Amino acid sequence: MSAPTDPVILAAAAALRSGDVVAFPTETVYGLGADARNADAVRKVYALKGRPADHPLIVHVTGREAAGQWAAAIPEAARVLMARFWPGPLTLVLPARDEVSRLVTGGQDSVALRAPRHPVAQALLKSFGGGLAAPSANPFGRLSPTEARHVRSYFPELTVLDGGPCCLGLESTIVALLGSRPRVLRPGALSLAALREALGGMAIDLGGTDAAQPRVPGALPAHYAPATPLEVVPAERLARRAEGLWAQGLRVAVLRRRCGPWQSPALPPVPRFLLPTGPRGYGRLLYARLREIDRFGFDRLLVEAPPTEEDWWAVNDRLARAARGHLQEVAS
Ligand code: TXA
Ligand code: MG
Repeated sequence: MSAPTDPVILAAAAALRSGDVVAFPTETVYGLGADARNADAVRKVYALKGRPADHPLIVHVTGREAAGQWAAAIPEAARVLMARFWPGPLTLVLPARDEVSRLVTGGQDSVALRAPRHPVAQALLKSFGGGLAAPSANPFGRLSPTEARHVRSYFPELTVLDGGPCCLGLESTIVALLGSRPRVLRPGALSLAALREALGGMAIDLGGTDAAQPRVPGALPAHYAPATPLEVVPAERLARRAEGLWAQGLRVAVLRRRCGPWQSPALPPVPRFLLPTGPRGYGRLLYARLREIDRFGFDRLLVEAPPTEEDWWAVNDRLARAARGHLQEVAS
């Protein structure tokens, strides 16, 4: 299915051309694709997701050769990053050309561009021949899907191209190139170390518009209600916290990075789940594991705090948002 001429791809591209929405795999998470030049198609994406109209979408393109159709200017740093990381898990926010629909950009004069590496996404984009506005394929506020069956569970009516489990599992890193310095708006699957290395000595601003201009405040309806309430707890306090909640009669589960003895003599018999010890493996499986855990309907999930080193930034970012109850920001 990874050739642009494959019948499944051809049919999906034709559906996109006629204004339909098609879900497709990327190396980060699955996306809900629509023709970025077709306002009605883009409106369908917002409607399907239940997403506010001022929350911009990423335009997916085959590669840097297409960027000029969307961006009014491509600064040198953007050229360097595209050459180095496209196709891949990096989204660049650039000044938008006038003709780019402000429906896609959430009313802003900048446009987010990404060239996904996944072969099915590449085949689809080549066959379609244009840009695909594509948010993660989850209803607003729910976990991003990393497998085709996750998308189907959210949108049973939708055409979903199955490209297997996503190999990165966390959304792309978003870098804005609008001011004098690159700014990381969202940590993600591309590490900060890789960005720094590619940009040489250039200073990078950290911290996104999410924090600076919260477009998705907690004031919005709590779409995340079905998700298990989650707390991130330092390893040394995990057992005591679990005991405390368990003693109150709450159904508690624990998510850790390794098996090992509990640091407490009085162990509560709570279910334990595991994720890999390194940041990449952890990030790859985090959303899928949280979905599995949700099925049990625990009252509380205690997540053993991962390390705070920079290569854990994206994981810690998603966990912190989930813990604040802002799942709509974790997985908008
Ligand atoms: O890995 C990914 O990026 C996935 C896959 C499907 O490509 N897509 C994804 O899309 O995560 P979405 O819509 O769930 O998240 C897009 C993020 C939002 O936080 C949005 O605010 C930001 O990109 N964004 C889009 N356009 C922007 C712009 N012009 N300026 C600032 N942020 C922008
Ligand atoms: Mg999302």
